[in-house]
Amino acid sequence: MTETAPSGPSGRTAGGPVVVRTPAELRRALAGAGRVGLVPTMGALHGGHRSLMRLAREQADSVVVSVFVNPLQFGPNEDLDRYPRDLPGDTALCGEEDVDVVFAPEAATMYPLPQMVTVDAGAMGERLEGASRPGHFTGVLTVVTKLFNLVRPDFAVFGAKDAQQIALVRRLVADLNLPVEIVGAPTLRDPDGLASSSRNVFLDTAQRTSALALSRALRAGAEAAPAGAEAVREAARAVLDEAAGATPPVELDYLALVDPATFADAPADHRGEAVLAVAARVGTTRLIDNVSVTLAERDPR
Ligand code: PAF
Repeated sequence: MTETAPSGPSGRTAGGPVVVRTPAELRRALAGAGRVGLVPTMGALHGGHRSLMRLAREQADSVVVSVFVNPLQFGPNEDLDRYPRDLPGDTALCGEEDVDVVFAPEAATMYPLPQMVTVDAGAMGERLEGASRPGHFTGVLTVVTKLFNLVRPDFAVFGAKDAQQIALVRRLVADLNLPVEIVGAPTLRDPDGLASSSRNVFLDTAQRTSALALSRALRAGAEAAPAGAEAVREAARAVLDEAAGATPPVELDYLALVDPATFADAPADHRGEAVLAVAARVGTTRLIDNVSVTLAERDPR
């Protein structure tokens, strides 16, 4: 997995992962790599990413982490320029997690021409995150397809925190017959409930405290599941209404209880699995979170 003498099952030396910047370097690094697991990321790696890497490590001969802040998935007024970037720190973290290869291409390498052909995310890609961030999922599915074609992984690991993203990636693979297994990793949370996110670094202490309302709302919603879909929405909404008056306030973008197969709103009589998803802004930082809930059949008595 390196230009120097190979050691260990994946051929990587003890000095940490090989960092490659181009498709040609990537192919050389992956010669004879065995079963390859890909963890696609935009860098600014944190504990949540570590858990994805560990899952990949358990199942792969060679683990590749891609680090690429994908301009195609950011809207014109979004935080592309201020998105945190720290390749040396990311590489060190990957070394601690026994990653074999870090693929960190430049934007000009991934997009040598203006991208003309893209992967349309369909109706599911226009709901929730897609409604708030038009074109976001086309950008995500396009870069994920490119990464799959470049890395050619046997499997790829995505975090459940981006519930709509992983649902769409599963459909991408199914609808386009891509030969990649998609592995979902549970959301990693701090002890106070805040979901790990690269954007958490932007929160000051007071904003972080306000941001806890997101996970609190999801817990309240999940606890109301035995009473049905409307009760779930109401319980979560009550927490967020209160947080709207906090200092600093939690400015709600959406709170939705959706069918996990389509991300369309779950009707009041919905039964079985559903996703309770929230997006909100605290200060200038936009946060998302979600939880799976099961709406059981009502007892007819
Ligand atoms: O979840 C992310 O970090 C990104 O959306 C992904 C999957 C790496 C594509 O740029």
